[in-house]
Amino acid sequence: MTVFSVLRTVLRHVPDALVPGTRPQSPPAQRQGQHGHVGAPISRLDGALKVRGQARFAAEVAMEGLLYAAVVHSTIARGRIATLDTAAAEAAPGVALVMTHRNAPRLRPPQMMLDGDGVAGSNLPVMQDDRVHWNGEAVAVVLAETQEQADHAAVLVAVTYTPEPAVTDFAVALAKARDPGSVVFEPSVVVIGDAEKQLAASDHRIDRTYTTPPLNHNAIELHVATVAWQGDALVVHDATQMITATAAGLAHVFGLKPQQVRVLSPFVGGGFGGKGLWSHQILAAAASKLAGRPVRLVLSREGVYRLVGGRTPTVQRVALGAARDGTLAAVIHTGVAAMTAHNNCPEQFTFPARHLYAAKSFRLEQKVADLDMLANTFMRAPGESIGSFALESAIDELAHAMAIDPIELRRRWEPERDPTTRSSHSQRDLVKAYADGAARFGWQQRDPVPGRRRDGEWLSGMGVATATYPYYRMPGARARLRLDSDGRLTVSTAGHEMGMGTATVQAQHAADRLGVALDQVAFEYGDSRLPAGAMAGGSSQTAGTVAAVTAAADKLVAKVLALAGNDSPLAGLRASDVVTRDAGLAHKSDASRHESYASILRRARRDSVEAEASGSPPLEQMKYAMHSTGAMFAEVAVNDVTGEARVRRFLGSFDCGRILNPRTAASQFRGGIIMGIGLALSEETQFDPRTGRVMNPSLAEYHLPVHLDVPEIDVMWTDIADPQAPLGARGIGEIGITGTAAAIANAVFNATGKRVRDLPITLDKLL
Ligand code: MOS
Repeated sequence: MTVFSVLRTVLRHVPDALVPGTRPQSPPAQRQGQHGHVGAPISRLDGALKVRGQARFAAEVAMEGLLYAAVVHSTIARGRIATLDTAAAEAAPGVALVMTHRNAPRLRPPQMMLDGDGVAGSNLPVMQDDRVHWNGEAVAVVLAETQEQADHAAVLVAVTYTPEPAVTDFAVALAKARDPGSVVFEPSVVVIGDAEKQLAASDHRIDRTYTTPPLNHNAIELHVATVAWQGDALVVHDATQMITATAAGLAHVFGLKPQQVRVLSPFVGGGFGGKGLWSHQILAAAASKLAGRPVRLVLSREGVYRLVGGRTPTVQRVALGAARDGTLAAVIHTGVAAMTAHNNCPEQFTFPARHLYAAKSFRLEQKVADLDMLANTFMRAPGESIGSFALESAIDELAHAMAIDPIELRRRWEPERDPTTRSSHSQRDLVKAYADGAARFGWQQRDPVPGRRRDGEWLSGMGVATATYPYYRMPGARARLRLDSDGRLTVSTAGHEMGMGTATVQAQHAADRLGVALDQVAFEYGDSRLPAGAMAGGSSQTAGTVAAVTAAADKLVAKVLALAGNDSPLAGLRASDVVTRDAGLAHKSDASRHESYASILRRARRDSVEAEASGSPPLEQMKYAMHSTGAMFAEVAVNDVTGEARVRRFLGSFDCGRILNPRTAASQFRGGIIMGIGLALSEETQFDPRTGRVMNPSLAEYHLPVHLDVPEIDVMWTDIADPQAPLGARGIGEIGITGTAAAIANAVFNATGKRVRDLPITLDKLL
């Protein structure tokens, strides 16, 4: 049992009213959505800045005396640096210095993700000795007056190595797979009943192995740090989805107090889990310290592949046993993910099976196999993306074997409570998502017999799969609200705008919460000097920020009411008597008793009033099973001659709680689905098992879906509020990639009769 499972068991028996966090701050209805901003399809408030080129990203920050950095990467997977000749590079035009382990400042190893407050990709020390830990690790950094001079000089650094035996073949490492102990705070093994015995006794059985490849992060904005030291203080213009923790992590590495490091990251060009603390920010700050000048380090696309981890490969077994009536007797989902000894990201691929379907018995078990490779990391729905591929493919295989419609089969497995934790669902309407989606997609037109729909060379088919992602709200987020005497409201929190609409949705929420017009709200974010923000990860930022803003708003209302005094129409009212409305406070039932914020502040001779608070402890996710779900529908055509698979139509029907902004939400869902199309059909990091080297570190050879690969993507949602989540919203950033690969694989089977269990589904596997 992990600490969390104990807490969960205890909380289940405690009434909501006694658990801070459950029904977090459900405000008076009047305060919610009064101006109708929440739930409205507001265009991105930062959109104009972006189309005008006025949004300044970390690689574009101007600095006096800036030096440009280039990284030299190791070419062996494990061993020592034997010789390191930097003379030619140092003599090259424009070069200011070359940093290696010999002259780098002494630094503490970073704290890795899930280890306390750490957010680093691994806990390996950065350039502190002659040891090499993966093929591609930084062995030197060149600083020069221009990027071109730095790039040129980096080629002149001559390095030789004394290699040591390295484990770089996943197939070999599998033999020594180990129990990681826990998987993202959950137990690595879940056993309920005797699943193997139940499986053996089942009328219908499917027992298959599915494999998924390593994948790399390919945010369009490259990883970058533009850094400057101001005395002992460090300023980092970064592209990060964890501003507060990145600042704390850098402070730890450089032995500074947290307030000595300022991280600014107002715009991020995509993160997807890859933009945390990696070695490049540390290298940039170390080199800048050495040079006594500001430094810009922009990783090349190849540099991102060498220094920023991605999704790790897995081998997964899924075995399902069902009775003739469709009842599920056994769910077995086990497997191994590659990892390193220096990070902690085991890919929670068994998580979908823990929460989706009712069954008599379960055996769910994850292991990791250590490789000498770059630390793997979170990548959009880590675990659920690839785990749902295996599980939902197996369900399709079982449905086919039983000649039952795959949606009907899942309907029969709909659980009354969470099947493995036994917690009550906060809200779950997957059956409705399926029914609504099936009607819209035209599922009844699907021919259950594979290979029968042909148009010339093209065979076509339909597939379906469940999407799922947990609700998370991380502790620690704070927000500050300030009302100015001119009626303007400023919300401040060190949050992130990676293109998903954070600034817009948070402005919508604050406007409704305080009853002010949207154009009177400023949302300040992207700076570690602001109150600690919710990280943009785990699809949790919106919930975390909304909870903090709500708590701060409650404090602010109490302060404003106190300022109103005896000459106000609000005189004598308590906070529980008032609602926010028309840029001020009003009695909740007597509308004539209203005074604007501006009027209250003026009479009190105040320029502004502010309040800061953190959200309640996120205990709701312990007490309840809180998961978003969805039904994913794909129509795929496969060319009988070339083996090429094309997604013709796609529909995602989601049950994610309340949708706060349908415009930005639709974009999030579609983005996730597009990433799922890449996962299904084309993306694969070619990792050389002999050398541990990534062989395709470029967008020319790593095949992301492009416009021609992406059909019209339709999205819909139940929009049923989750009573336990702030604003009823469970988070939507990641769920779009889940279920997508399985829906496509299932459609490929329906089109061709060929079952591909090894991603990506490339044409060679279909011929
Ligand atoms: Mo996400 S993989 O938690 O950015």
